[in-house]
Amino acid sequence: MKILVTGGAGYIGSHTCVELLQKGYEVVVADNLSNSSKESLNRVVSITGKSLKFYNADVRNSRAMDKIFTDNDIDWVIHFAGLKAVGESCAKPIEYYDNNLNGTLVLLQVMKKHGCKKIVFSSSATVYGDPEVLPLTEECKTGGTTNPYGTSKYFQEIMLNDVYKSDNEWTVVLLRYFNPVGAHESGLIGEDPKGIPNNLTPYIAKVAIGELKEVGVFGNDYNTHDGTGVRDYIHVVDLAKGHVAAIDNIGTAGVYTYNLGTGVGYSVLDVIHAFEKACGHPLPYAIKPRRAGDIAACYADPKKAKEELGWEAKLGIDDMCSSLWNWQTKNPEGYKK
Ligand code: UD1
Repeated sequence: MKILVTGGAGYIGSHTCVELLQKGYEVVVADNLSNSSKESLNRVVSITGKSLKFYNADVRNSRAMDKIFTDNDIDWVIHFAGLKAVGESCAKPIEYYDNNLNGTLVLLQVMKKHGCKKIVFSSSATVYGDPEVLPLTEECKTGGTTNPYGTSKYFQEIMLNDVYKSDNEWTVVLLRYFNPVGAHESGLIGEDPKGIPNNLTPYIAKVAIGELKEVGVFGNDYNTHDGTGVRDYIHVVDLAKGHVAAIDNIGTAGVYTYNLGTGVGYSVLDVIHAFEKACGHPLPYAIKPRRAGDIAACYADPKKAKEELGWEAKLGIDDMCSSLWNWQTKNPEGYKK
């Protein structure tokens, strides 16, 4: 079976390519390399000993996408390609809506033209907005997103639902990721953020390696066990396996929505302390004001994915931190060297 992975050179995409290849799927990657490196795919090939096909293509370019579908008999698409930084999306909403919404529209048009009607979409727990109840189940209300990145994910889910309503031959899988962290155990692939990281664990890793001075803890007055923000961190390899589980197990057309999380929430301080264990030395941190737009706590009820896909996260916070540390120390400059 042949899978097109858009954004396959990125952080979650590259880990998913590994899992797909290891399960015997054929992989075609389309990536415009705007926030990723082709080197990640060379490393995917080294890890798996298998080859994949790469197209340097932007999903908004219908001619380039058309060629991919003409050259290859694609059975499923896993659609990762898109912009993903919350803060940047507030400064550049036009770029975010163009990349994320337009990209998905063009992809769907080309898929329709070629009769490929199976898509796994990279969604986010951000579609739940500020949760009314925890843990979050897939039935919880969506919308109320507070930034263009989150709103684009919410809109894309609606678009995909409408496509299915118009044509019941489509299979649409919406995977709502919680907080993906960590790296492949080989230390060959991992997250390679450009500039100063916005997200917590890449920031901690840069402090641990001495590149940044201290971790800023954004608020210690939330209603959580230690006052700092609580999130459901999920190992990127578990997350990648969730995509394979969806493709392995979903055989009937429809719209399927799953939370991909562990069901366990860790605070910012919990994560810092877990990372201290992984890197073997204390990490300087300082309490800072809350970050605008942040919520106190967010974690999944991951039952549905377990029941229907037979998938559950296996790796814990210590694996997440040690694999990230392994990646960081082996690749202090990411894919540059
Ligand atoms: C954000 C997005 C989410 C996206 C994810 C990964 C929202 C609300 N969240 O998640 O959709 O999928 O990024 O790109 O849209 N923190 C610090 N210091 C730091 C950085 C973070 O204390 O330097 C805290 C935050 O306040 C938060 C936790 O760490 O409590 C996690 O933050 P982060 O890694 O940025 O992820 P989210 O904001 O949860």
